[in-house]
Amino acid sequence: MSERLFLLGRDPSTRPRADGSGPDRAPSPLPDWAQANPVEIEEALARALAKPAGGWAVLDASRTIRRGPRKYVVAGRELAAWWCSKPGDEGPRVGPDYCPHMGAELSKGSVDREGRIVCPWHALAFSGTEAKGGYAPLRTYDDGVLTWARLPELASESDPLTDRPFLARRPARFLDAVIRMEARCEPRDVIANRLDPWHGAHFHPHSFARLRVVDRGPDHVTVRVVYRIAGRVGMEVDARFDCPDPRTIVMTIVAGEGVGSIVETHATPLADGRTAIIEATIATSERTEVISWLPSASALLRPMVEARARKLWVEDVDYCERTYALRKKGS
Ligand code: FES
Ligand SMILES: [Fe+2]
Repeated sequence: MSERLFLLGRDPSTRPRADGSGPDRAPSPLPDWAQANPVEIEEALARALAKPAGGWAVLDASRTIRRGPRKYVVAGRELAAWWCSKPGDEGPRVGPDYCPHMGAELSKGSVDREGRIVCPWHALAFSGTEAKGGYAPLRTYDDGVLTWARLPELASESDPLTDRPFLARRPARFLDAVIRMEARCEPRDVIANRLDPWHGAHFHPHSFARLRVVDRGPDHVTVRVVYRIAGRVGMEVDARFDCPDPRTIVMTIVAGEGVGSIVETHATPLADGRTAIIEATIATSERTEVISWLPSASALLRPMVEARARKLWVEDVDYCERTYALRKKGS
């Protein structure tokens, strides 16, 4: 017998979807395991992987970068990231985590009043915008929630460097929460995990109930899912998944409560078989009373949203590491 649920908020089945996608599919007579067709998931993944990224990868939440020099590894390169707060020149800076003088790690240094990173050993300073003595900074982009860096090694002849990353459409006013986790897998495993929505209610029963695919196209899949608030109390929404670039998958709420809210999952290659999962939840509402208190509630709600996202990703890291291990074994 199916579980009795108590649903709050707007009913997604009574309203047209915000993305104008087609009529609801009738529920599939197939069980979820039969709908989760590995060949179709692999084909959807191949289409996502063929998209351009322009050499861009997400490093971290912009508010984390603002807290001082930090070390990151992307595509095997050690990087130091910091925030330049010099008036009129504010922004993220990213460059090699290597001082060309004698090799100190710049991420262990400090940031001066000019917004330069200062080497901890002999105080050589780098602006992060100009090359100096073998030190070549990377281009960065702050999208307001996440900081991106552009690495030539992530580009190719068919996917050349671009001035900006390919960004998902975001709501005008929102509450954002960002988590960053690492996994022993490749970025493609993270994207493939999200291209398999059928595992949701089975693998994460604490968070999801009653999930079915209501629309599907070559570049998207839309599910109707009950998101549990507590126990059998939940909200039902239609959520569409698509990939703006080969290392990002975005879930957009297209009907129900919170239309326009998105969850961006970014997979950044660290080194062989290591990937960072950086996930931004960007929540909004069509209700004006909710929109007005969203900014003031951010500090309170952000840790709760991040805790829920992290709990899901503990399980999904396990899924991704399993698919990676199986691929490595050739099975
Ligand atoms: S090692 Fe950086 S200034 Fe000497
Ligand atoms: Fe999952």
